[in-house]
Amino acid sequence: MHLISGINSAKFFSATAEPKEPVVCTKTIPGPKSIELNKQLGKIQSTGSIQYFADYDKSKGNYIQDVDGNILLDVFTQISSVPLGYNHPRLLNVFKDDKNIKTLVNRPALGVFPGKEWPDKLQSILMQVAPKGLNKITTMMCGSCSNENAFKSIFIWYQNKLRGSSKFTQDEMCSCMVNMPPGSPELSILSFHGAFHGRTLGSLATTHSKYIHKLDIPSFDWPIASFPKYKYPLEENVAENKKEDEKCLSEVADLMEVYKKKGKPVAGVIVEPIQSEGGDNEASPEFFQNLQKICKKNGSALLIDEVQTGGGSTGKFWCHEYFNLESPPDVVTFSKKLQLGGYFHNDDFLPNEPYRIFNTWMGDPGKVIILEEILKVIKEENLIANVQNSGKVLKDGLLKLEKEFPNLLNSTRGRGTFLAVNTVDGKVRDTIITNMKLNGIQTGGCGENAIRFRPTLVFKENHANIVLDRMRKVLKNL
Ligand SMILES: Cc1ncc(COP(=O)(O)O)c(C=O)c1O
Repeated sequence: MHLISGINSAKFFSATAEPKEPVVCTKTIPGPKSIELNKQLGKIQSTGSIQYFADYDKSKGNYIQDVDGNILLDVFTQISSVPLGYNHPRLLNVFKDDKNIKTLVNRPALGVFPGKEWPDKLQSILMQVAPKGLNKITTMMCGSCSNENAFKSIFIWYQNKLRGSSKFTQDEMCSCMVNMPPGSPELSILSFHGAFHGRTLGSLATTHSKYIHKLDIPSFDWPIASFPKYKYPLEENVAENKKEDEKCLSEVADLMEVYKKKGKPVAGVIVEPIQSEGGDNEASPEFFQNLQKICKKNGSALLIDEVQTGGGSTGKFWCHEYFNLESPPDVVTFSKKLQLGGYFHNDDFLPNEPYRIFNTWMGDPGKVIILEEILKVIKEENLIANVQNSGKVLKDGLLKLEKEFPNLLNSTRGRGTFLAVNTVDGKVRDTIITNMKLNGIQTGGCGENAIRFRPTLVFKENHANIVLDRMRKVLKNL
């Protein structure tokens, strides 16, 4: 029995052709049916963040359809997580194969009873996209728990360096059971103001994008450095932005000293290639190159969080490929477009003892078979090149809109289709996003006043032109 039985592939292909343009048929979004469903869900869950209820049967390609019949061109894609659009025929076909259905049904505790296919699957699928120089992988569930476990790997690595070949002491084994040193050592992870690395307790300690994510939650005293805030256009502000890099890097070096003296040495540094939730703040390749040098000098691991940037939308599979680092980063975390979470690393970050980095599922083979097909389509259809192409059209168009509406927009930035533009303030930003939705475009906000674009990898030039036309209309009517 197939999950989507009785589908004639040719017919299905035409049935899934995406709409030519957005259609908005309600005066407000959410429309009446969404509002009704929200009331229903509100009886059992918090619903404050829900924008509308989608109809995923009817959503196609780059277009998401809501329960009220509105069809929106989606350039937010489930917070940057949909690589090939909705109901891609190749992904639906994956589940015509009974073997794949069985993979879905029989989900293993991967750390204990992996299936016979698992070593091959990891090697032939995930390791094929491993960042250059990283030959190990730990699979996980989501972005937050990937960072959380990567921190643990870094702490274990750091302590192993100190311990050398000695065994755990009795004191270490007893003290860790009551959260005290030396077994639970006072180590720290350095992060950056404006960063977002997730919401579990360790990851949250390195998240600094919005107070609402953190308020009332106890946290660690870990160092936080400034992340560069550039002036745009970049070509006209080279000297100033270089100074900004230097200021932030010297803060990193200073904080490492301060925390060493405090008795909380920096075991690792976590950084996004482009700070995403925090406002799409970019930093130069030189910033990352020098950050890596500082990490090496201090004996700290460099963790690059590619949860949002990974998977192709920056015009490279991993955004840090743009940085020409002198050696690979120590750890690279992923999730979102890659369907499951996890991190790539080198041998040094593989714990020697079992159960130190562990959880029941440790990933999901069901997601890996979807990822396999996604990666095939990316390759066959040359989608990274497509992103570079459509990203250029979108970016050039945003720069043009900036010139047309200098009192409303500024600082267009980003790589590939991973783009953002600032508005004059948060209120104007929210109004533009709402009005764009009413004009058929689903975008998202980030930071205090930015609009971010996170289209699929199958977002083409014609889609970019629709976004730009609708945005122009919204800006004209403000
Ligand atoms: C850079 C980055 N890291 C980590 C996370 C957390 O991922 P998740 O929401 O899957 O826990 C996010 C989520 O938006 C992210 O953008």
